[in-house]
Amino acid sequence: MYVYGHRGFSGKYPENTMLAFQKAEELGCDGVELDVHLSKDGELMVIHDEKLLRTTGKEGLVSDYTRSELERIKASKTKDDAYDVTIPSFEEYCAFARKSDMVTNIEIKTNRSWYVGIEKKTIEMIRRFGLENKVIFSSFNWLSAVRCKSLAPEIPCGLLYEETPVRHLAYQAVDHGMQFLHPDYVLLNDEVVEECRKLGIGLNVWTINDEERMRKLMAWNVRGVITNNPDMCLRLLGR
Ligand code: G3P
Ligand code: MG
Repeated sequence: MYVYGHRGFSGKYPENTMLAFQKAEELGCDGVELDVHLSKDGELMVIHDEKLLRTTGKEGLVSDYTRSELERIKASKTKDDAYDVTIPSFEEYCAFARKSDMVTNIEIKTNRSWYVGIEKKTIEMIRRFGLENKVIFSSFNWLSAVRCKSLAPEIPCGLLYEETPVRHLAYQAVDHGMQFLHPDYVLLNDEVVEECRKLGIGLNVWTINDEERMRKLMAWNVRGVITNNPDMCLRLLGR
C-alpha cells in the first residue's frame, strides 16, 4: 500500500509547505498529495484553500495576489505560526520532486474556482522537470481530470469524490481512461472495492488519520492511503 502524506506530513508540520514535503520524504513516505491553484499572474501555487485566511491569516484569495507576493506570505497558521515557512510555488516543489523518489499526487483545485488553463500549465511544468513518471493527477472537478488525461495520456489520473453521484463509478473511471478512484473513506464498501479490483482501477483513499480505518484499508489491500499521519500508517505497515 502506497502511503501518501496528505498536503505533506501535515499532522505535524504546516500543510502544503516545503517543510511538510521534506518531512514526509524523511519519514519514508511513498508520496505526497498537494493542491494547486493559480495566482493573479497565472502562476501555479501550492495551497489548499482558495482563501488565504486559514493557513496564513491573511485576507483575500490566492487569485488576488501575484506569485512573488504569495511566496512571501507566511503559511504556518495551522501550526500556531510556529514555523518560518511560506506558500511554495509549484515550480519550487517540482525542483524538490526532481531529486526525490516520492510520487506526487497533484490535486487540481478547480472544484470551487475555474482556473483557465491550469491543467496545461501543470503538465508543462511536470514535463519541464521530467516528472512524468512520478506524478498522478486527481480532481473533484472531473472536467479537469478528463482534460489532464487528454493532454497527457501517459500520466495516471484519478477521479476524486466525496459523494456518490452514480453507482458503478469504477466503470465511469474505465470509460474515461482513468487509472484511479480517490474516494472519501466513508464511501467505500466491499462492493466498491471488488468492482475496482475487477476493473483494474486503483483506489487511493483519503483522509485516513486513525488506526482502525488504516487497518481496514490494509485488509482491503487498496492501492494507496492519503493521510495526515503517515508516521502512524508506516508503523502499522511495519516500515
Ligand atoms: O486528494 C485527497 C484530498 O486532499 C481531497 O480533499 O479537501 O483535502 O483537498 P482535500
Ligand atoms: Mg487535496
